[in-house]
Amino acid sequence: TWNMGSFAKEKIEEIRKQVGDKKVLCGVSGGVDSSVVAALLHEAIGDQLIAVFVDTGLLRKNEAQQVQDMFKQLGIDLITVDASEKFLSRLKGVTDPERKRKIIGETFIEVFDEEAKKHADEVSFLAQGTLYTDVIESVSVKGPSKTIKSHHNVGGLPEWMTFELVEPLREIFKDEVRKLGLELGLPKHMIGRHPFPGPGLAIRVMGEVNEEALRLLRDSDEIMQEELRASGYYDKVWQAFTVLLNVSSVGVMGDNRTYDNTVCVRMVESVDGMTATFAYVPHDILENISRRIINEIDGINRVVYDISSKPPATIEWE
Ligand code: XMP
Repeated sequence: TWNMGSFAKEKIEEIRKQVGDKKVLCGVSGGVDSSVVAALLHEAIGDQLIAVFVDTGLLRKNEAQQVQDMFKQLGIDLITVDASEKFLSRLKGVTDPERKRKIIGETFIEVFDEEAKKHADEVSFLAQGTLYTDVIESVSVKGPSKTIKSHHNVGGLPEWMTFELVEPLREIFKDEVRKLGLELGLPKHMIGRHPFPGPGLAIRVMGEVNEEALRLLRDSDEIMQEELRASGYYDKVWQAFTVLLNVSSVGVMGDNRTYDNTVCVRMVESVDGMTATFAYVPHDILENISRRIINEIDGINRVVYDISSKPPATIEWE
């Protein structure tokens, strides 16, 4: 086990050596990994860093604003591109999980590419928050005949982007990234945040992604997170989120029959996301989450809990 303080210093030196006085483009998603990469680069090369945040419109409630606020606090200039309409319109009518991922991956690259071109003359490097886990999973599951899920963080860049890659997290796991982030002064609540997939809420809506589905998902996710934090369980599980099942069922509200959508609560324990078990969360927490979601969200009349582990189920539903 190495000392993270020296790891950070080592990485900063490495980046300075690799980059020299050139500029580095860095995509920021709001997640822990890309934020740590951006903070590391900022520490190493200051304003030679060009950080770009693509708002896909597929983030959780208020998340885009929180990302911008955090970077402001860190003193890092952040270029925000709001592409939510583009993403939503391309996802219209699409229900197949791999097609969703493909569309989101391609649209992301396209939008990022458009922004990157504006800086093409100055930039020579591209920074990515690739983790060791991404490297292994891409190698092991992404054969030509056997793609389990096409993670959009690795590969797939347009040919003109012949930038050299800067991937300072390539050899480390998530828990090590968190330690590094704390050392770099990222806020604790941000570092402790659960992992969030690149394709965002789109892969948590079964069926078509539209404004209404995103509303149900955002609102239920927010309630779940509130209850989890209030009970002190947020930090005890590795990841927790809600999934909109696109299954209607009959219920009763007051004197009326309802026929509404179902939300699934997914909470898992894991070390690196490669394997996971569903979390043994006390029933009273689940009860609060369920009651609040059904009472407070118009359009949901049933909440279920996912009791599958990985493998054979994956953590995300798509
Ligand atoms: P699965 O569903 O494959 O997820 O068991 C394992 C972990 O990876 C996250 N995940 C992704 N992260 N881009 C990401 O950055 C993706 O395309 C992606 N797909 C899944 C998932 O949230 C879980 O933590």
